[in-house]
Amino acid sequence: MNNEKRSNFTGKIGFVLAAAGSAVGLGNLWRFPYLAAKYGGGIFLLVYILLAVSFGFALMTAEIAIGRKTGLSAIGAFKALNKKYSFIGYVAALIPAIILPYYSVIGGWVTKYLYAFISGGAKAAADDAYFGGFISQTAQPVLWFVIFLGATALIVLGGVEKGVEKVSKLMMPVLVVLSIFIAIYSVCMPGAIEGVKYYIMPDFSKFSVTTVLAAMGQLFYSMSLAMGIMITYGSYMKKDVNLESSVTQIELFDTGIAFLAGLMIIPAVFVFSGGTPEALGKGPSLMFVTLPKVFESMAGGTYIGILFFLLVLFAALTSSISLMETVVSILCDKLKIGRKLSCLLVFVFSVVLGLLSSLGYGVWAEVKIIGLQFLDFFDFISNSVLMPVVAFFTCVFVGYVIKPEAISEEVELSGKFRRKALFNVVIKYIAPVCIVLILISSVLEAFGVFKI
Ligand code: TRP
Repeated sequence: MNNEKRSNFTGKIGFVLAAAGSAVGLGNLWRFPYLAAKYGGGIFLLVYILLAVSFGFALMTAEIAIGRKTGLSAIGAFKALNKKYSFIGYVAALIPAIILPYYSVIGGWVTKYLYAFISGGAKAAADDAYFGGFISQTAQPVLWFVIFLGATALIVLGGVEKGVEKVSKLMMPVLVVLSIFIAIYSVCMPGAIEGVKYYIMPDFSKFSVTTVLAAMGQLFYSMSLAMGIMITYGSYMKKDVNLESSVTQIELFDTGIAFLAGLMIIPAVFVFSGGTPEALGKGPSLMFVTLPKVFESMAGGTYIGILFFLLVLFAALTSSISLMETVVSILCDKLKIGRKLSCLLVFVFSVVLGLLSSLGYGVWAEVKIIGLQFLDFFDFISNSVLMPVVAFFTCVFVGYVIKPEAISEEVELSGKFRRKALFNVVIKYIAPVCIVLILISSVLEAFGVFKI
C-alpha cells in the first residue's frame, strides 16, 4: 500500500515538473512583465488570473486528456478522434515553427547579457542606451542569436536533452529562490511602492479589449497551450496520475513565476524611470533595460546578475529545445526524412526567420508589417491570431464533436473531477464566444479598421 502510494506520487511529480519545465521560460520572465507593464499593471494581472483559472484550466485539462486518451501527439490525436478535425493539429503544429526563431533571438539577447555580466560589463549594461545600442547593431545580435539557436540544435541533434533537463530541474528551484530574493529587493527600494501599487491594484479605467486579448495570448504562450504541446505531454501521462490536480499545480507554478518576474521588474521601472507611460510601454526590451539597473544598485550585483542570467538562459534553453524538438519530429514523420536532415532544415528555416526578427530592430527598422516590427509581427501572428484560432477550434471540438463527457471520463479515471461543471460551461459557451469576439475586434484593430 505504502509503496504503491509512493510510486504514484513520483509519477505525478515527474509529470508536473516536466510540463512546468515546458511552461516556464522566457514567457514568464521576459514576456509577462512587459505586457503587464504596458497594459495597465493591476488590471492586466487580474484579467490574466481570471483567464488562467477559467480558460487556462479548461484548455489545459482538455489538451492533456486528449493526449492521454489517444496516446498520440497533436496531429495524430485529432485525426484519431475525428478525421474531419485533423486540421486543428496541423495549424497547431505550425505555431512552434513561428515561435522558435524569434524565441531564439531573445535567447540570444539573454546569452549576450550573461556574457556582458561575466566579462565585467555589468556597469555598462545598466546604462539606458546599452540595450538599444546592442540590438540595433547588425552583426552582434545576429551572432548571439545563432549561438543560442545552434546550441539548441546541437542539443536536439545530439540527444543530450536528458542532461539539460536534469540540470534545469536542479536549477529551477534555484531560480525560484533567486527570483523571490530579487523581488523582495526590488519592492524594498525607495520609491518602489508606487510600482507595486500599479502592478497589484487594478485600475478599471485601463481596461480594454486589447488587454483581454494580450492576456489571453500570454496565457496560451506561457502555458504552452493551443499548439499541441500539452497533448503530447498528456500522451506520456500515466492513467493513474490525477489529471485535475496536476493541471492546478502546473498553473500555479507557471503563474507564480510570472507574478514574481513582474514584481522584480515593474517596481524597478518606477524607481529608475519614474513609471512614465513611455517607460512602462517599452515592450520587449523592458527586462533587459530594467534588471541591470537593479543589479547595479545591489551590493554584489554583478554576481547576482551572472547567476540570474544563467538561470534564465537555462529556462530559455529547455523551452527552445522542446519547441525545436516538436518541429523536428513532425518533419521527420511527415516528410519521412531522417533526424539529422530534419534538424538542419529547421535550423536553416529558423536562421532565416530569426534574421528578419533580429535585423528588424536594426538596419530594417523601417520595414513594418501592419505597423509592427518583424519580431513583434511574428509574436502577434502566433499569440494573438493562430493560438486563439486553435484554442477556439479545440473548444468547439471538445464541446460539440467529441463532447465534454469524453474529457470528463478521462479525467475521472484518476479521481473525482471537481470542476466538471465549470469545465463544461467554459469549454462549450464562454471560451468559444469570447475568443471569437476578441479575435475579431483585435484583428480589425490591427488592420486599422477601427480603434477600440
Ligand atoms: N511556455 C514557454 C514560455 O513561457 C514558451 C513556449 C510556448 C513553449 N510554447 C512552447 C516552450 C512549447 C516549449 C514548448 O517561455
